[in-house]
Amino acid sequence: MKKILVLGATGTVGIPLVADLVARGESVKAASRGAREFEGAEAVRFDYTDPATFAPAFEGVNRIYMVMPSDSLEVEACLLPVIAFAAARGVKVVMQSVMGVAADEHNPYRKVERALEASGTPWVILGPNWFSDNFHMLWGPAVAQGELALPAGEGASSFIDARDIAASAAAALTTDRFDGQAFTLTGPQALGYREAAAVLSRAAGRPIRYTPISDDAFVAMLQGVGLPEVYGRMLAGLFSAVREGATAPVSDGVEVLTGRPPRSLERYASDHASALAG
Ligand SMILES: NC(=O)c1ccc[n+]([C@@H]2O[C@H](COP(=O)([O-])OP(=O)(O)OC[C@H]3O[C@@H](n4cnc5c(N)ncnc54)[C@H](OP(=O)(O)O)[C@@H]3O)[C@@H](O)[C@H]2O)c1
Repeated sequence: MKKILVLGATGTVGIPLVADLVARGESVKAASRGAREFEGAEAVRFDYTDPATFAPAFEGVNRIYMVMPSDSLEVEACLLPVIAFAAARGVKVVMQSVMGVAADEHNPYRKVERALEASGTPWVILGPNWFSDNFHMLWGPAVAQGELALPAGEGASSFIDARDIAASAAAALTTDRFDGQAFTLTGPQALGYREAAAVLSRAAGRPIRYTPISDDAFVAMLQGVGLPEVYGRMLAGLFSAVREGATAPVSDGVEVLTGRPPRSLERYASDHASALAG
């Protein structure tokens, strides 16, 4: 049986994706820079910045899940060589992109999507909305303090549970029915950050308050915890789409791919109540 290579296997989506594929009986290579061990999968070292790691990782593989590490801004430099490598071997690529990038042909994720579509190799593109999991991961320290300050204004987002992204990716990897298609992945309902904070508060059993702030205040706050200004500006830029309502639509992508509806923010919060409780 040909294997599935999961890049970013130690990531927010990678961890549940490897588990999902192993549970389906697939033969899985779990790739990370440290070749971390995974139950039921073969650990392999892979580094986007080190092409010498590509050939051993692709050995015996006919499908890959490709994700951009969220701590890097070098989207094209990271992903285009992997697409070229996969296409030269006829390996199918399931790419985790970002919801809404098709509206801007200059967006680096969009340029990579275009390159994949033109590569000649089978592909599926997944465009998830903001992850619910950010509340205990990216924004975890703020949530632990009970003070979530973001430049999201009163904009709503149909937050998606990382487990539903993983299940969608697993479906795209294990059938050719969805090849050549792009899917927007969202949760079942759009909520503003004020409503989301109320959901988190109920699950955590303590108050978590949302305060809308300016882009500059947000960037300064991130710099205060050691993040570079350029990264803060990139994140702040994403929130302008939230304020403009671009992250509010609800899609049927998860249901089409997996055959069941996506998890609600309430479900996410109750399943992560102890992490949210701080
Ligand atoms: N968070 C959101 O709300 C959101 C919304 C929409 C789209 N997205 C997109 O989703 C992606 C992030 O997904 P995620 O949160 O599942 O990823 P993630 O948690 O950032 O995980 C990515 C993995 O990549 C690995 N990695 C880092 N640098 C690497 C390198 N040079 N070579 C190989 N592997 C490397 C890391 O593992 P090791 O350190 O173990 O190698 C890490 O576990 C980003 O493209 C982001 O734009 C995120």
